[in-house]
Amino acid sequence: MTHAHIDLAVIGGSGLYQFPGLENATRQSVDTPYGPASGDVVIGDFAGRRIAFLARHGESHTLPPHRVNYRANLWALHHLGARRVIGVNAVGGIRHDMGPRTLVVPDQIIDYTHGRYTSFCDVEGAEVRHIDFSEPYTSSLRVALLEAAKRADIAVIDGGCYGATQGPRLETRAEIARMKRDGCDLVGMTGMPEAGLARELELDYACLALVANFAAGCGDEAEISIEEIFAHLAAATAGVPPILAQLLKS
Ligand code: HPA
Repeated sequence: MTHAHIDLAVIGGSGLYQFPGLENATRQSVDTPYGPASGDVVIGDFAGRRIAFLARHGESHTLPPHRVNYRANLWALHHLGARRVIGVNAVGGIRHDMGPRTLVVPDQIIDYTHGRYTSFCDVEGAEVRHIDFSEPYTSSLRVALLEAAKRADIAVIDGGCYGATQGPRLETRAEIARMKRDGCDLVGMTGMPEAGLARELELDYACLALVANFAAGCGDEAEISIEEIFAHLAAATAGVPPILAQLLKS
């Protein structure tokens, strides 16, 4: 199946492996020129619209951030007919007002990742394109997401700089201190190359970041516990479906 009508694609991050409330769901396994995507794309009805959902880390979280096939994921969603994509990403908060369970729609990115396939333009003989990335997220989709959150009565912070790290380990305090000096407000492991690849495919793309913890050295804890991360994530994730339902109604 290609070019079905899809109103919105959602890439679920840590803590969001299935889209709750999806009706008439069917699964699509997509063959891509870049190898396998993170799993099947699940297409179904939500809030009266068609959405495509893909679990970035696989449905049982078996792919670490540096092994996610970002190119295959974006290519598959585009191939199925998606034109707007919301990336849901678990992050650590660096800015003091971005503590656990905060939702943020970032507006900038600094990419600290390495060794990932960052472009569709690396096949012999392919045209080299230098996409504009001054504004890494699609402004109209960001605005729609923020307005949807307002209608859903869920607090979301407008703007912030997402620092993308390699992972899968968390960062040192010194790394976070440097990122703070660089101007990062959030830190996550999966925001790039996803956003850049979406732009190459001319997909509308925005990020809904869910703060799971204060980044290293930013909170009171001496260590960051993974149990706590997942507890906060579960709480923050509850806000995602109501926001997206409002987005789909607009
Ligand atoms: N660092 C990087 N990625 C993350 C974090 C963090 O502290 N928390 C959730 N994702």
